[in-house]
Amino acid sequence: MSAHNPALETSITLNSLRRYKQANEKISCIALYDAPMAAIAQRAGIDIVLVGDSLGMTVQGHGSTLPVTIEHMVYHTAAVSRGNKKSFIISDMPFMSYATPEQAMSNAGLLMQAGAHMVKLEGGQWLVETVNMLSERGVPVCAHLGLTPQSVNKFGGYRVQGRDDQQAAQILKDAADLAQAGADLVVLECVPQTLAKKISEEVDIITIGIGAGPNTHSQVLVANDMLGITPTPPKFSKNFLSTYQSIEDTFAGFASEIKSGAFPKEEHSF
Ligand code: KIV
Repeated sequence: MSAHNPALETSITLNSLRRYKQANEKISCIALYDAPMAAIAQRAGIDIVLVGDSLGMTVQGHGSTLPVTIEHMVYHTAAVSRGNKKSFIISDMPFMSYATPEQAMSNAGLLMQAGAHMVKLEGGQWLVETVNMLSERGVPVCAHLGLTPQSVNKFGGYRVQGRDDQQAAQILKDAADLAQAGADLVVLECVPQTLAKKISEEVDIITIGIGAGPNTHSQVLVANDMLGITPTPPKFSKNFLSTYQSIEDTFAGFASEIKSGAFPKEEHSF
């Protein structure tokens, strides 16, 4: 029997994800924000649903994720959780909601009570203490390294990160230190595929790639990009709806293309 048949799982847990990684089976993840889409993702057999703060752009019409608040994230997490009883739900902690460990703990509590199974935080070394505190208190953590969109003003734009050796070594060290502190998953966004491969092979953590090449354990895309809603989609994305017609078939097609290795291709990577 395959280790990875979503139809056989009552609900997907962190242990299911660890099992899939162990069995070398790719994990599907889609960022979406509401109950009907979450229900479609469940029917399509998507492993992880990410309630991303990208909703600042895709739902609210802002130019960045910075205006998103913890109240917005709680609202959308609760909606997604009502619509999907099977996928593993990760919820983003928005800008400045985890600036101190204490703030992180009280805001993570709100997301978990709204239905999240894990919270995601953007950043490296400075988050080690926070990740440790959350993890020890029963809150599973997904880290987020590389292009962390909440730092867009510091980066001076949405740019690929980790291209030079020093930056790449820092991202690798951040991943290792955050894993050591208790992070179970890490999103690697817009980093060279060689770096994502190295982290996936060398660090004891489940890697979710977006613009990170084909060698991560999981791939995530934003639903709006896959469905052709985003007017100018990023290079690493693909309009799956133009191939698969219905939304459910699009989500299922994405899962099957990452499992077969058909996506992402060289043209989606750095
Ligand atoms: O907010 C989001 O949707 C994300 C993904 C792009 C990884 O963080």
